[in-house]
Order: sequence, then C-alpha cells, then structure tokens
Amino acid sequence: MNEKIAIARAPANVALVKYFGKRDVDLNLPAAGSLSLTLTPLETTTEVQTDPSLASDEIFMDGVIADPSFSRRVSGFLNLVREMAGARIHARVRTQNNFPTAAGLASSASGFAALAVAGSKAYDLSLDELRLSALARRGSGSAARSIPGGIVVWEKGEQRDGLDSTARSIADPGDWDLRLIAGVTDPGPKKIGSTEAMECTRKTSPYYAGWIESTRVDLAEAIAAVNDRNLEKLGEITERSALSMHGAALAARPAILFWNGVTVEALHLVRELRAKGLQAWFTCDAGPQPKILCSPDDELSIADALSQLPGITDIIRCKLTSGARLI
Ligand code: PMV
Repeated sequence: MNEKIAIARAPANVALVKYFGKRDVDLNLPAAGSLSLTLTPLETTTEVQTDPSLASDEIFMDGVIADPSFSRRVSGFLNLVREMAGARIHARVRTQNNFPTAAGLASSASGFAALAVAGSKAYDLSLDELRLSALARRGSGSAARSIPGGIVVWEKGEQRDGLDSTARSIADPGDWDLRLIAGVTDPGPKKIGSTEAMECTRKTSPYYAGWIESTRVDLAEAIAAVNDRNLEKLGEITERSALSMHGAALAARPAILFWNGVTVEALHLVRELRAKGLQAWFTCDAGPQPKILCSPDDELSIADALSQLPGITDIIRCKLTSGARLI
C-alpha cells in the first residue's frame, strides 16, 4: 500500500438523553440508547497520512507530538482500521480541535468521528454511514453520534458484536431550529475519564439500575417530542436525564462529582430564567461545563445571562449541523 492522505472534519455532539453506562467495555456498547444534537461550531479536523517509511504511528495534536496516552488510544483505533483493511502500514495523524480538549465539551466524540472518516478513507475502506458510526464508536462511545447530522439517536443494539449499535439521524439540521449554549467554567482536562466514571457508577451506584431504566423511558419520550417538535417536552426530558445521570454518579462509591460551583450556579440560573418564561433547559456531561438547550428566540437573552455569571470564562453558541465528512 502506498502513501495516501485523507482529511476529515467532524462536529461535536451533546446528548439530551445521556449515555452513561456500558454493556460491553471493549466494544463501547451502551447499556441504553441515547439522543443527541450534532453541533456547529465545535469541531475536530483530522488528517491521516499512511506512510510506508514509518515504523510506528506518529500522532500530532495541535501541531505538536501528542501525549503518550492519547497516542496509544489513536494507534489502538488505527489498529482496528488496519485489521478491517488487511493493511499493516503505519500512519501520521494530525488532529486539531477548535475548542478545549477533554474538558467535557465532547472532544472525544468529534475526534474519533473525524479519525474514523479520515482513517477509513486513507486505508481505502468504503464504509456507509452506519458502519462508520459503528467504527467511530470503538474509539469513544459518543463518537458514534458525531457521524450523522441533526438530531441523532444511538441505538443500544442487541447483538453481542455490537454491529447493530449505531447512530442515525431522526431530523435534519434544517428540520428544527434548536440552539444550545455551552458555558466554559474550567478549560482544563477533566478529573476522571468517562469510561472509569461509568464503570465505577455501574459497579457501585445503588441508583445505576434505576438510571438505565429511566433512560429507556426518556429516550422513547424524547423521540416522540422530536417528532412532535415539542420543545417544552424535549427540554424537560433533557434536564431530567442530565440530573439523573449526575445523581447516579454522585451515588457511586467513591462519589463522582463532575461539577464545580459555577456549574451549580448555572443550573439555578436556568431554573430562574424558566420561571421568568424563557425556554431554557440545563444539561451537563462528564465535566463541569453547563450547557443550555434553548429556543432561537430566547438564545441571546440566555447567552447574555450566562455570560454574566461569575466564573463563566467563555460561552459558545451552537446550532444543529450536518455530520462528519471528508474535506
Ligand atoms: O464517549 P464517551 O465515552 O466519552 O462518553 C461520554 C458520555 C457523556 O458525555 C457523559 C454523555 C453523553 O451521552 O454524551
């Protein structure tokens, strides 16, 4: 195989019905389905260049050699691609995020979606969207949801090999104008990785079974809310899913606390804004950054209120976009 180069760009996604618990850790198979928004402007751009002169993969992040643990993860993912392609040649990978890495802003989702698209192309694989989603999932579960665009459902799947655990779009970006505002409270890397947090919660939280059970109900209701374009209902499910996920994690032993004080203040703010009649609902992932689902009409007032909260260092206003693609 000769030198080949492919570049892909993938958007981040934020789940409204959260994924937090695996039925298979090696394959990143979820214990329940989830629902997310594929969002611009948070994105990763990744270039994969196969090179017969390389003795091992070379991974660059933001122009410098990546740290060993990230490089190992990327190389492990390329091994999967090589296995599928029947190839042995190593690659040079250059990746860049336009937002803080590993801080709970979904960088692993956009990162592995971009790597799946660029890597499969560089290794001459021809994969459709569902197979790309299954491949991206192997890098990071939530990356399965950054392959399609718009509003996305990632199925739990039933098969042990996980080939039916893929993500698909249930609404295109132009079908419904939803907005999401991400607040940055702390741009540093998160304190605990999401796999470790999920496994600790699964093994020790007395609320884990209830969390997974409630997610099944939330997902079915959220899909119905999307079909009905019912923002009130979708918002209510969004906030309760996030709070239930963090509740289950807080009940783990030892307790897992992703939030800082500013995250809690943001939750209070969202509830106050709602009491004043604005359409705003809180969500938060495996980090301290608050995110607010809102209507386009209320977006600017909500962004303004969030940016005035002490401790918020940046806000990113997001809207729906199409999925990962080659550039
Ligand atoms: O893709 P992972 O393994 O980093 O999972 C992250 C999952 C959450 O962000 C915490 C929730 C979600 O559904 O995105």
